[in-house]
Amino acid sequence: MLGVIRNMRFIIAKDKKELGTKAGDAILALVKGNPEAILGLATGSSPLEIYDRMAEGYKEGVSFAKVKSFNLDEYINCPIEKETYRAFMETNLFSKIDIDRKNTHFPDANNPEAYDDKIAAAGYVDLQILGIGRNGHIGFNEPGTSRDSKTHLIPLTESTRKANARFFCNDINMVPTEAVSMGLATIMTAKKIVLVANDTTKAEPIACLLRNESTLDVPASVLETHPDCDIYLTEDVYLAAKAINGEVK
Ligand code: GLP
Repeated sequence: MLGVIRNMRFIIAKDKKELGTKAGDAILALVKGNPEAILGLATGSSPLEIYDRMAEGYKEGVSFAKVKSFNLDEYINCPIEKETYRAFMETNLFSKIDIDRKNTHFPDANNPEAYDDKIAAAGYVDLQILGIGRNGHIGFNEPGTSRDSKTHLIPLTESTRKANARFFCNDINMVPTEAVSMGLATIMTAKKIVLVANDTTKAEPIACLLRNESTLDVPASVLETHPDCDIYLTEDVYLAAKAINGEVK
């Protein structure tokens, strides 16, 4: 561990694989201790190595049969079925572990706030995995999103749609224009947060977290007030963020 800024612990690893192993081990330890743990799951490339480690853990004997999961977000009107976030989770995690599909949840665009009720009724998320957008978004909570927001519909920004065009034949016109996402207040109800940044395109928002600067322009900065938040960074992201802050490498 590198250090603690307010309640955020920064954990640095040399590369994506080591980062995924460290964060994945924290999740495996939670599930071993509480087989009925409630996990908050994220999509995108950031958590992939964590999911690899969870799949390995399953092979080593950790069961997810009683685990419940709540995914952060989902596209609305996604034109390519395999790019929906449910399909992503199926490919990258659910098919590799023994989780019961009826325990896996995604927000419903027709009744977004019901998701918060469902999470509360389950006893709240024990550990929420988060990636981070280049503009500091978490889930699909784009800059400016209220910190009181519950699960809600969100028009996607040009920058996020551009970043995700790679999954849609590199054609921004095919990227959905709207999504449904846990809000910032929903995310903050998780008992523990594990945020992963393993790509230097995320250095700007990470620099903001390292400065302990709280602003609606960087939605992830709401995490500075979370009581139990671990930020996992690859060394290159950490060094790039420090350079942005004018600190010597
Ligand atoms: C997407 C997702 C976020 C994700 C972020 C970063 O738009 N909605 O949940 O954390 O962008 O994605 P990646 O991990 O692929 O960089």
